[in-house]
Amino acid sequence: MGTVVTVMNMKGGVGKTTVTMHLGGMIALYSIGDKERSVLLIDYDPQFNLTQAFIPDRIYFQLEKARKTTLSILLDDDTDIDPYHLQVPGNMSPPKVRELSYKLYDRLDIIPSTLDLMYLALGQPEKRIKPFEERFDKFIAQCREHYDLILIDCHPAGSLFTKTALTNSDHVLIPVAPQRYAIRGIGLMLQFIEAKKLGASPVPHILFNMTAGNEISAEEKEIRNNPKFGGKCLRSTLKKYKVFSDPLEGNGFVWETHSKSRWSREAFDNIESVTKEFLSKI
Ligand SMILES: Nc1ncnc2c1ncn2[C@@H]1O[C@H](COP(=O)(O)OP(=O)(O)OP(=O)(O)O)[C@@H](O)[C@H]1O
Ligand SMILES: [Mg+2]
Repeated sequence: MGTVVTVMNMKGGVGKTTVTMHLGGMIALYSIGDKERSVLLIDYDPQFNLTQAFIPDRIYFQLEKARKTTLSILLDDDTDIDPYHLQVPGNMSPPKVRELSYKLYDRLDIIPSTLDLMYLALGQPEKRIKPFEERFDKFIAQCREHYDLILIDCHPAGSLFTKTALTNSDHVLIPVAPQRYAIRGIGLMLQFIEAKKLGASPVPHILFNMTAGNEISAEEKEIRNNPKFGGKCLRSTLKKYKVFSDPLEGNGFVWETHSKSRWSREAFDNIESVTKEFLSKI
């Protein structure tokens, strides 16, 4: 049975997508602790940045045309998708994960996203959400049988996506960038997780991202010292390295470039220690 982790923060630009791609890649490509793990990345954000980091445009357009995207988890037929008169799926069986996923590396697959997902993100009356939820729940149950780890990259909002991702997750990883109001963002996130809980709620973990050298920012100190949040923080932090922002269309990942420069090597060592600690928590 695989473990499901949603990477989420209501704040935008804190590194959700960057963290998802690098953790997913490190876990699938390196048998950390001598354990091979198969990983599925689900791009659950209409901006599809995670998809663009891994998949060349040419291939992406073919996949999108063949409807091999996250939208197909929720909806069978998107021929006349209309945000104001959204059809509720009639068929409650989602597609097979083997048919929807795209292979990136031996043990790393992705389900790409699409801008069309945006239509579903727009206000849905609560009672019409149920069929989408049922399809998503069934799909994740299927994913758990095929993969050791499922990582879901969510968009920064409270929506059908964040709700379905959370209710199906064992853990939530919350990347936090050293910005003003970071602590309020975390408070909101924890409240949201609590409010959406159905059964057991996912375990939150806070990962400080874009940290500088050995300095600890005022925001990081404040959050670590807060009795409500301190115990949820990972000890290691993801530092700011240009190479973490390089990946595009499957190229530029730190696992390809780490032998080429000192900075890349340092970045590799950094993400490796974050990955090890993350694995020890889930
Ligand atoms: N550790 C890091 N080092 C260097 N650059 C980073 C790091 N983390 C994130 N970035 C850069 O910061 C920007 C925002 O990161 P990212 O897109 O991962 O955030 P996000 O939370 O997914 O954003 P959104 O809310 O739009 O989905 C990107 O340009 C990314 O490359
Ligand atoms: Mg993102």
